[in-house]
Parts: sequence; C-alpha cells; structure tokens
Amino acid sequence: MGHAASASCLLPKRATGSLRCTFVDHRPNFNYNGDDDNYLRILMTIELVALIGALAVIGLVFVYALISGSPPTPTSPRVLTAAMRLLPRRLPGDQPGSIFELGSGWCGMSPALARAFPEHSVIGIEVSPLPWLVSNLIASFKRNGNLSFERDDFMRRDLSDAALVVCYLAGMQMKRLEAKLRAELQPGALVLAHTFAMPGWQPLDRVYADDIYRSPVYLYEVPPEVSGAVAPASQTATESSTSGES
Ligand SMILES: C[S@@+](CC[C@H](N)C(=O)[O-])C[C@H]1O[C@@H](n2cnc3c(N)ncnc32)[C@H](O)[C@@H]1O
Repeated sequence: MGHAASASCLLPKRATGSLRCTFVDHRPNFNYNGDDDNYLRILMTIELVALIGALAVIGLVFVYALISGSPPTPTSPRVLTAAMRLLPRRLPGDQPGSIFELGSGWCGMSPALARAFPEHSVIGIEVSPLPWLVSNLIASFKRNGNLSFERDDFMRRDLSDAALVVCYLAGMQMKRLEAKLRAELQPGALVLAHTFAMPGWQPLDRVYADDIYRSPVYLYEVPPEVSGAVAPASQTATESSTSGES
C-alpha cells in the first residue's frame, strides 16, 4: 500500500545498498475518536445560533423600518458638516432648552450637537431597539455629559421645551411631524431638517451639502404665529440668502 511504504522504497536506487533502512510509517495519523463527532456538532450548533442571531437582528431592524416608515439610514459626514455650519453658535431662549434629534438612528447627529452646544441637553429619540442600543454604546465612549438616547416614539414626546429639533425623516413622516411641531414648539425655536423639507414651511436658511446628491439642508425658525397651531409657517417665515449655499 502506498501509505505504508518503507524508507528504502523512497530512496534513490544507488543509495539503498549503503544505508540502513528504517521503517517509516507514512500513513496519516487518523485515529477516529467519538469526541470528534461531538466537537463538530458543537461547532455546527454555534454557527447555526450565530446565523439565526444575525438574521433575527437584520429582521428586527427591517421590521422597525417598516413600522416607523423610515430605515435607520445615517446622515453622511458631508451632510452633517453642512448642517453644523448652518446652525447658529447660540440657540435662542433665555434658558438653554433641549435639543431633540427625532429618529436618531445609530446615534445620528446627536454627538456633534452635544459637542457644539455643551450647555444644552441633547436627546436622541429612536424607536428601533438595535440602533438605540448601539447609540447608547457609542455615547458611553463619547462621554458627553449632555448627550442621551431614549427609546420612544417621538410622536408621543412633548417637545415644548425644545430650543432646536433636528430630523432626517421620510417625506410622509415630515407631514405628521409638521403638525406636531406647529402645535408644540415655542416661538423662536429652531428646526433643522435635511433631504426632506418641512412641508408648507419657508426655511430661514438653506444650504446644499457637498455630496453627490447636493442634499439640501433646511433651517427653520418657529415664528410666533405658528406656535400653538395658529397658522402654517409658510405664511410667516422668510427665506434669507445663505453664505454656504452653492
Ligand atoms: C433616516 S434615519 C435618520 C437617523 C439619524 N437621524 C441620522 O441622521 O443619522 C430615521 C430614523 O428615524 C427613526 N424613526 C422613524 N420614526 C420614528 C418615530 N416615530 N419615533 C422614533 N424614531 C423614529 C427610524 O427608526 C430611523 O432610525
């Protein structure tokens, strides 16, 4: 048999006469052991559990995207840069009102807002459990004392204390949100939205991000007539030219 060959068979013919031959067993060292079966079974179970876990996580994110009407697509760094440039250095109000990011996804713009406005509480509200968990994890590394993430439906939150509301939501959601903001926000409060505009509102200022979509970023201010659901903001606010607009 090929595997059971002796050393002399493998040496050139010239050398065999002068060498002592020792038997070398070339058979693979394969000792079948019942433990191997168990080992494979454990390995396959771990792989199966990992696969089911990964599918469950993807499924959960997907289901919440369907329920909420918007997937947790993050704001790109270029849009974030444009958004941060559009915001004033100081937010309105005698008291530092809260900053809300409505639908904060995987932590969204909240950490940048927390750094830019250290005297304000920045609260990211996210309904989808996994992005919310990841946001909390990221926040624990960032160590911004004024940054927190809450798992909730922002439509159920009272936003009357807001100095600034930030959002990146699908167009249909913006319609529902518009009525809520109109009813709850104080005069002078700011609203920053990107990609989808606030329907019926005239932006105070607008820039386009330096990305391939030229994503629009809008800054709105709640005028006195708008707060308390009196009149649509489009009748009252004015659009100004922007230094960063291209
Ligand atoms: C397009 S993502 C934006 C994420 C983040 N703001 C950013 O800019 O990176 C929209 C997020 O809003 C969340 N969302 C949608 N409707 C919501 C609601 N009613 N309450 C809380 N979160 C909501 C979605 O789960 C999703 O994560």
